[in-house]
Order: sequence, then structure tokens, then C-alpha cells
Amino acid sequence: MSNILSGEESSHQITTDVLIIGCGISGSIAALELARNPDVRVTLVTRSQDPLESNTYYAQGGIVYTAADDSAEILAKDILRAGDWMNNRNAVDILAREGPNLVRRILIDERGVAFDGSAGEAKHHRTREAAHSRSRIIHVRDATGKAIQDALIEAVRTQPNITLLSANTAVDLLTPAHHSRNRLAIYEPLSCVGAYVFDQRRKCVVTILSKATVLASGGLGQIFLHTTNPEGARGDGLAMAYRAGARIINSEYVQFHPTAFYHRHRARFLITESVRGEGASLVNASGEPFMRKYAPEWGDLAPRDEVARGIHQEMLETGSDSVFLDLRSHIPAERIKERFPTVYNNCLEYGVDATKELVPVVPAAHYFCGGVWVDEYGRTNLRRLYAVGEASCTGVHGANRLGSVSLLEGVVWGYRAAQHIAANLSEELPVAPEDIPFWQDESVAGYPDPVLVRQDMTLIKHIMWYYVGLVRTTPRLARAMRDLSVLREDVNIFYHTQRLNDELIGLRNSVLAATVITRAAWANKESHGCHYREG
Ligand code: SIN
Repeated sequence: MSNILSGEESSHQITTDVLIIGCGISGSIAALELARNPDVRVTLVTRSQDPLESNTYYAQGGIVYTAADDSAEILAKDILRAGDWMNNRNAVDILAREGPNLVRRILIDERGVAFDGSAGEAKHHRTREAAHSRSRIIHVRDATGKAIQDALIEAVRTQPNITLLSANTAVDLLTPAHHSRNRLAIYEPLSCVGAYVFDQRRKCVVTILSKATVLASGGLGQIFLHTTNPEGARGDGLAMAYRAGARIINSEYVQFHPTAFYHRHRARFLITESVRGEGASLVNASGEPFMRKYAPEWGDLAPRDEVARGIHQEMLETGSDSVFLDLRSHIPAERIKERFPTVYNNCLEYGVDATKELVPVVPAAHYFCGGVWVDEYGRTNLRRLYAVGEASCTGVHGANRLGSVSLLEGVVWGYRAAQHIAANLSEELPVAPEDIPFWQDESVAGYPDPVLVRQDMTLIKHIMWYYVGLVRTTPRLARAMRDLSVLREDVNIFYHTQRLNDELIGLRNSVLAATVITRAAWANKESHGCHYREG
């Protein structure tokens, strides 16, 4: 495979073998696997200034591995039960069979992630999270995602055939049917030949042409008022794929994590489920445990959707702004500090000492179980377009994700997509570079008013939280559809008349992602997992 590609490299056009959008666990693993062949050029773009910044980085709990008394069948059953049996059985089997070996090979052996107790493989400390029938989760204290992301990005940086472009926001996927100067391209099956990418530093749009493109842009928690996700999780991948004609599935399944730290005036942050796995319990404002009322079998360790709804109900019944996590009565103070330093320090920053006090928590949008439909190799319905990680929907999670499975899915599908791409990469670019026009924005006015962008974003977050949140009803969804459709028109006009910046790209994508989710929630009258309809 030659890395000399057709087409002129210029400041406005780049050609590459594989373009990967997003550098969390799935994108980085795909890049590293592809880069094993020194002749394959990989371009990895991320909208973040710092490539460490991704949803992966904030994953606290850990990654599913194995337990002594575990098996692929037992893991698969736990995943299916948590997903309310709405999962893609084949995808679950692939994950359960291949996942633990890939974790060992890629993360432990090759990247040297120092999971707790890693003196020997058998000695890794295994923790438990909700709805797991085994303690099978390995972790790096309560900052597992950080440790993984540090190791992967360090490896990415040392690969000469990976070009890492930070502060580069993908604007749209390039499909000849939509973008080619050749009008006859509309008769070809949909395919992806790269993306328009906004360079935040130079404030211009670059055309990146590729033989294969991997969408690994993460989730969309930021379109909800309360979320555990970082600011980049705004549905960029979902919206780009939707505009390009990709099939989107399971969009009604947005998972709310039961326990985000609650403070009246501050952003939410995650309190890992593994605190409950290690003994902490949920109590209401009167200090009473309540989860057995809602989930007699599992109590505090019920699947996330059940715990989140239990908390919601308890808050309604007690008229309280939050419920509480009680660590202090169940886990010794020294153990809290040593095992959960992130949780302990973050709470302390907001004036709560988890070794002595109850920690106020509420549910918050956490993970998108739907996404761009992909097969067992991460292929979408567009030729040469793959999707991996949270942007994709393999069907593994069904209607509700089991804890610590998302990182595992990122490993498995990052790896599988890379294998498939490597085996099928063509010699030539699939499009003549001159057929794809450069980005045109001479006719537009100045930069968008940040007040308008922020206010529109706030509106989306409120609509989604109150009307398309934990409990959905027909009147709420109808209101959301109406409000979003008005807003979408305004945002589209705004988008086409202003110069591009990262915030405007995010706003356009967020309003579309919100619409896609709302329509799916409207259409599905059946409650399953994290899609709960009360009418
Ligand atoms: C957690 O630690 O509770 C979150 C991990 C996950 O989302 O799987």
C-alpha cells in the first residue's frame, strides 16, 4: 500500500488513507491498529484542544474483564437483562467472547495500563457495578478512563503514520451524492469520502479526503440540562451521519446515570456506580434506604434505568431536590480516600466530605445507547463509512447499558473496524479531489452572536430535560417536537448566514440530535430500559 496519494495537499485540502473523527478509546484504538502497517496514513481529528479530553477520560468505574467464576455466557446474560432483552444478540456474543482477550492484549499487555492490583493478571482487583452478577470490572482507582486515555494518546503521539489534529471540528461528512461537482454521482450508492473539518486555530474549513472514514465522535449528554458528559458530547457524530444518509437506530434510549453530584448552582459530575458496588447505599432526605421498594431483587444495584427512576420517584414523593449516597456508614474513611480519590476530591471541592457526610445526588444524562447503525465490523450503510464507540449503535446495549461495558465496546469495535478497513483499503482515493469543492463562506456575515448561540443551546437543554427526560409522556413529547422544529428552522438560517465556529457547529448538530431523539421517543410507545413512557 503506497502512502503517496493522488491529489494536491494544500492548506485547504488534505488527503489521507483513513480519517478518524474522535480520539476517545474507540477512535484511538482504531488508529493504533491501522497504524501497525507503516504504509497506512491515519489522520485523527478531535474538536478538543487537548486530545485527552473525551468521554473516555471521565469514565470512572472501570472496564468489564472477567471473574474467576465468569464466562462469556454469563456476561452476555447480564448485558441482555440490563438491556431489557432489546439487544442485538450477535453483537452481545461478539463482545462477550472477544472483549476480555482484547482488553488483556491491547490495554494491559501493549499499552501497559496499570489497573489496580496489576502485580499479576490474576491479582487485578475486580469491582462490581449495578446489575452485574459477578465482580468482573477492573479499574484504576476511580479514574480508569483517564489512565486508559493517557496511555492511548501517548501511543498515538509516537506513531509516525498517525497525524493527530486537535482543535479541528468535523462539520459534515463528504458524500459524492451530496457534495460532488459531478451531478451524476447521485446515481451511485451512498458513500463517504472524508469530511469538511473546521480548523479552530486558523478559522477555516479544510477538506479531508480519505479512502475510509471512522466516526468515533462520542455521545450527546450535553443536549440535556444535566449531564455527566464533557462539553464536546453534543451529538456531532449523530447529526453528521444523519445528514449524510446514515441509518440511525435506538435513539430513544438515552441512559441517565442515577448518581451525579448535586449542587444547586454547579455543573453535575459523576459519582461512580462502583461506590455502590463497594457497599455505599442510596438514602432519601430522611436518611432511609429506598431502592428495595423499587427493585426488590437488586436494591441499590439494580440496572441504571431502574435506579434512576427510583430516585426520580423518591424525589417527587419526598419533595426533595436530591437523594443521597451514604459512603461513610459502609466504607471506612481511609478506603474511600484510597479507592475513590476522584469522587472524594471532587466532592470536597464543593464542600462535601464523603467520609463524614452524605453526598447529594440526582440522575443526569450519561450515555447514548442508540446511534449510527453498524454491523459487526463497524460498517454503516454508507460505503467506506464506519462508526465506533458511543456514536455508533451495535445493539450491544439494547434499551439500557450495563455499567463499564461502553469502554469494552470501544475496544472491541475500534479493533474490529480497523481490521476490516485494513483488509479492504483501496489503492486509490474513491473520488477525484477536484470533484469536491472547497468550503465556501465568502457570502456570509460576521461571526455568530455568542449570546444567541448560548441561549439556543440552553433552550435545547431545557426542552430535552423536561420533555424528553427520564419520564416521557405524549403531551411532553408533542411539545418538544413543536419547540424543536421552530428552533431548528431558526438555527438553520443562523447557520447559513454566519461565519463558522465550533459553537455554531455544535448548536446545529445539537438541535438535530435532539430532534432525532425526540422523534424516536415519540414513535416508540413501549417502555423499555431507559425509554420510559407514562402515556
Ligand atoms: C460509573 O462509573 O458509574 C460509570 C461507568 C459507566 O458509565 O459504565
